[in-house]
Amino acid sequence: MSEAINLGSMDDIDEGEAKVVSGAENGTGEDIAVFHAEDGNFYALDDNCTHETASLADGWIEGTEVECPVHSAKFCLKSGTALCMPATIAARTHKVVVEDGEVLLYPNTSAVPASA
Ligand code: FES
Repeated sequence: MSEAINLGSMDDIDEGEAKVVSGAENGTGEDIAVFHAEDGNFYALDDNCTHETASLADGWIEGTEVECPVHSAKFCLKSGTALCMPATIAARTHKVVVEDGEVLLYPNTSAVPASA
């Protein structure tokens, strides 16, 4: 498993909001968006929409989905699955764990179990 990046207190990312961890900071070269979903959990996807160029962190969180702010494709925050057009390619997920109230991001560690 990759090394965790501590994003600080879970209270620092309001429910329905997201925080971007730059590619330089997370070591993947791709920005990662960490979402505080409406189910109270945290999820992480590559920030750039798989359709064209847009920050998913600037989109709208609805339940456990995020809607791209440019052409309104929706992605499942749990699996990264593209749920509607115009996106057809899933967003890459990353594991997020909350420990003692701190949000820990594990870049390049899929949030989706291999058997899923
Ligand atoms: S850039 Fe996201 S749906 Fe087009």
